[in-house]
Formats: sequence, C-alpha cells, structure tokens
Amino acid sequence: MSESAQRIAVFGAGYVGLVTGACFAELGHRVTVRDILPDRIEALRRGEVPIYEPGLAEILARNAERLSFATEVAEAMEEADIVYVAVGTPPTYSGDADLSAVWTVIDELPAVERRIVVAMKSTVPVGTGEKVRHRLAARGLAHVGYVSNPEFTAEGTAVRDFMEPDRIVIGAFDEAAGDVIAALHAGIDAPIVRSDVASAEMIKLAANAALMTRISFINEIANVCEATGADVVKVAEGIGLDRRIGKSFLRAGIGFGGSCFPKDSLALKQLAANSGYHFQVLNAVIEVNELQKRRVIGKLVARLGSLRGKRIALLGLAFKPHTDDTREAPAFVLAGRLLAEGADVVAWDPVAHADGLVGVEQVATVEDAVLAADAVVLVTEWPELAEVDWAAAATSMRTAVFVDGRNMLDPRAMHDAGFRYDAIGRAASNGLT
Ligand SMILES: NC(=O)c1ccc[n+]([C@@H]2O[C@H](COP(=O)([O-])OP(=O)(O)OC[C@H]3O[C@@H](n4cnc5c(N)ncnc54)[C@H](O)[C@@H]3O)[C@@H](O)[C@H]2O)c1
Repeated sequence: MSESAQRIAVFGAGYVGLVTGACFAELGHRVTVRDILPDRIEALRRGEVPIYEPGLAEILARNAERLSFATEVAEAMEEADIVYVAVGTPPTYSGDADLSAVWTVIDELPAVERRIVVAMKSTVPVGTGEKVRHRLAARGLAHVGYVSNPEFTAEGTAVRDFMEPDRIVIGAFDEAAGDVIAALHAGIDAPIVRSDVASAEMIKLAANAALMTRISFINEIANVCEATGADVVKVAEGIGLDRRIGKSFLRAGIGFGGSCFPKDSLALKQLAANSGYHFQVLNAVIEVNELQKRRVIGKLVARLGSLRGKRIALLGLAFKPHTDDTREAPAFVLAGRLLAEGADVVAWDPVAHADGLVGVEQVATVEDAVLAADAVVLVTEWPELAEVDWAAAATSMRTAVFVDGRNMLDPRAMHDAGFRYDAIGRAASNGLT
C-alpha cells in the first residue's frame, strides 16, 4: 500500500456505494464495502455484480485485491480511516427524505479513539451534516471529522463520471477533514469546490433541480410546439448552440424518472416548505413532469379511440438506457395508466425487469413485443431500437401506431416504414400521416 493510500469503509453496496468503492480502489486505496443485505455481499465476494452499470464489473475485478465486502460494521471499520455513507435516502409519505438508513450508519459507528472522517455521499437535506455532528458529539465522538462530498454521477455512465467528474464538491466543518477527502481524490483531474457543509448539501440539491428544470422547460416548449406547428428538435438545436444556454438536457420527451430526480425534487420542495418558503419554479417542474408522462395516453387515444382491449407494447422499462434501474421509471406510470384504461400491456427491455408491474407481460425481443400490437410506445432510448427492422415490425402489428416518447427515431423513415408515427413536440412529423 502506497503512503498516500487510505483505508476506506463504504456503507451501502448500491449504485453509488459500489461505484465509489470500486473507483477509490482504482485510485489505489484499500476499500471495504459494507451492506446489510447478506445475498448482495455474498454475490460480490463470489465476483458477481448485483446491479447493471457499464464498466463496474471490470473495475471491481481489476481491483479485487484492494476490495473486500462485509456485512458486519466491525469488519468494515476494523482499520478504516474514512467512512463513506452511500445508503439510500428514499422519500417518506410527506416527501421529505427518509434518513433512517443514514442514522443507522451514524449510530452504529464504533466508538473509535482515532480520528476518522465520515463523508456523506448520500443525498441529504441541507442541515443534515449539522445534525450528524451533534449526534456524534453526544456520543463522545466530537473528534470524528465530517464532510459532505455529494455524488453527481449518472447511472449508465457512473464509473466514467466518478473518474472524470466536472467537479468534486467538499463541504467541511474543519479544513483538516476537507483536506483528507481532497487527498483521497488525488489522481482525478477536476476542479475541487471547497465550501461549508450546508452549501455542499445545497449544491447537490440545486444541481439536480437545475437539470430537472431544463427538462420540464423543454418539455413545455415541446407541448407548445405541438400546438403551434413547430419542431422542438430544431428548436432545441437552435437554442442549444447559444453558449449562454448550452445543449445538454434539452431533449424533449415523456419526462424524467429514476431514483434521484423525482425524490430529490420532492425533498428540496419539502425542505423549502419546512423552512417557510414556497418554491414555485420547482413545484411547476414537478407538475409538468407528471403531466408529461400522461400525455402519451392522449396521443394513443387520438389514434386508436378507446384503449380497452388494445394491445400496447412498451419498449423500455428502465428510467433511461444503460441501467437496469426502474425506480420512478416513466414506463411504470404509463403501464399503470394503460392498465387502468383497460389495455393489455406488453413490455420489452434488454436489462430491466417488470418486477412489481402486475398485469404486464414482459417478452424477450422487440419483435415479440410488437407482434399483433395495436400501438408501440418507445419509452427508453435503448440504442438497439435504432437497429430494429421497423418496416417488418409494422407489418406484424394489428395497427401500426407508434408513439416515440424520446424523439429517437426519424419521423420520415418511420412514416415510410408504414407507421402512423407521433413524437413529442414535433408537429410537422405528426402531420406526416
Ligand atoms: N443512483 C444514483 O445514480 C445516485 C447519484 C447521486 C446520488 N445518489 C444518492 O446516493 C444514495 C444512494 O443511492 P443508490 O442509488 O446507491 O441507492 P441503492 O438503493 O442502490 O443502495 C443503497 C444500499 O444501501 C444499503 N444499506 C441500507 N442500510 C445500510 C446500512 N446501515 N449499512 C450498509 N448498507 C446499508 C442497502 O441495502 C442498499 O444496497 C442516495 O441518497 C441517492 O440519492 C444516487
């Protein structure tokens, strides 16, 4: 072990914890990842990766010597200098973040005499660090350092995002603790933003809110395009080339989902509300996103009339391509709405599963999904969908209706393939048929 290498315990072997652990091992540190799920830890010890994340299996295998997995706190903490908290913070019924897993980690930390640093990777409300500090002090652990080191990786590109981030945010109560976390990232070439703990916590929530705002903004522009005869793809290109605006997150579609955006927007909304502030823009962003998913139903009804007894194929279950994560996935909302309308729903996804989607039949190929269907909805822009023989697919369907929820395919080509094709915010393409 080199002199600068540290011993790190990562709590949580989910999307963030595993990527964090594997990437710190890649940087030369010795890492133990702890989870409360024995099956997950057993699988990891056997060299199996319990989630689908491109590049993760390779980086775990490459650094197997520096990585170990544990179910027991004591085992993970044996020699740890740094503790990363990467447990889930799902929404409660009130929309606030559920911090129970975070508090379990904090309360179960052994009463070490050495100076360790706790780094928070889980997304938490502003003020959490302050509460953790008090809780540790109450246990006689005031010498334990605390740092907010939020995570900005995106599922599907998480390994690359971790190793080549746009920035690293480190919010600390004392400079020395911040220095420890900064040193841990030696080898990563990125600006480091040092701040107080509350600001670091807010940077994470505000970054997500900014991205969601762009998505709901372009979706509203798309809806107005649809009503007025413009094409949102051209509009996005035209505004995205403006350096003050930029191109990213300007793809109109059926709305965002995933394990972060929906819950983090609710958490920030509640955080503001609990502090007596009504966050108007964020409320609109959330509402636009809810309505956007449901607009697909209107498009299908316009083409097919009543959906009762109609067979609708959903292409894609994951909330975005290159992940198997279906948390808050638009496909699930759509499936629920379609089933409520009396439709038969069949779904395809190359890696994600329709677990918990009662009444939805999942099939192994796109061809099986579209066979005898009355309509297809492209929900997740998996690259393989660009390779499908759509003309053959159209002839295998009962009625060749296609709603491209991600504006992925070429309207003219889909029209020529025999579809009555609708996209999102592309009035001209809708007019083709
Ligand atoms: N998923 C993302 O892309 C992403 C990106 C940025 C930030 N985040 C944030 O990171 C956090 C983790 O997200 P995730 O997607 O990795 O969640 P996840 O649900 O995939 O993983 C959390 C893991 O923590 C484990 N766990 C629960 N209690 C534990 C304990 N006491 N000790 C050890 N392990 C415990 C769970 O069993 C689970 O395996 C959340 O706060 C999330 O908002 C996620």
